Amino acid sequence: MKPKVFAFDVYGTLVNPLQMSERLVELVGDVAPTLTQLWRDKQLEYSFRRGLMGAYEDFSVCTRQALQYAQTVVGVSLTEEQQDQSMAGYQQLVPYADVIPALKQLQDQLIEAVAFSNGSREAVTDLLTYSRVLPLLKQVVSVDAVSSFKPDPKVYGYLCQSMGQNPRDVCLVSSNPFDVIGAKNQGLQAVWVRRSAQQVFDPWGIEPDLEVADLAELVAQLN
Ligand code: LAC
Repeated sequence: MKPKVFAFDVYGTLVNPLQMSERLVELVGDVAPTLTQLWRDKQLEYSFRRGLMGAYEDFSVCTRQALQYAQTVVGVSLTEEQQDQSMAGYQQLVPYADVIPALKQLQDQLIEAVAFSNGSREAVTDLLTYSRVLPLLKQVVSVDAVSSFKPDPKVYGYLCQSMGQNPRDVCLVSSNPFDVIGAKNQGLQAVWVRRSAQQVFDPWGIEPDLEVADLAELVAQLN
């Protein structure tokens, strides 16, 4: 595979949103992993629904409202201040261990890499600055510019347009199967980063061009 640009999904691919469990355990105890998983699942569901309804709000609204929902379901109650702290924590996730070395290798090989996320440009820029990933990327592309969310075809179209490339020359790299399928649906290439053996790919008959366990394996496959 020789795309002209690699576009890296952010949450789940470069950083792990489930890391929030480590912070939440201090606030809610043993239910932290359940709360964190439901928070993430609901955040994505809210983005899908807002995309379908044409009721776009910044991704942080999906994240905050999902946290409120998840608390009610799990039966815990965070104060306003604790919710604000949790939202702030979402901006301070550390990258997976393979991310920085792999992106450095791509940079050394002059292979163009960008971030492509549901998060706003500002939020993703802050997060990737904190996690020291930003200098390894050419730019941050956010769905915010077209007021919709993955997997709306128009967000992948916007990514390609921003890069000045044909879809077939852009490769999305994502751990999220819905994102991989969304990109393939618009004619992009796509790599699925199967960060855990438990992850299952949706049986839609649309397959990634490549499946890797992490970004180190992706870089190795390119050489
Ligand atoms: C993102 C979502 C999919 O970073 O987590 O775009």
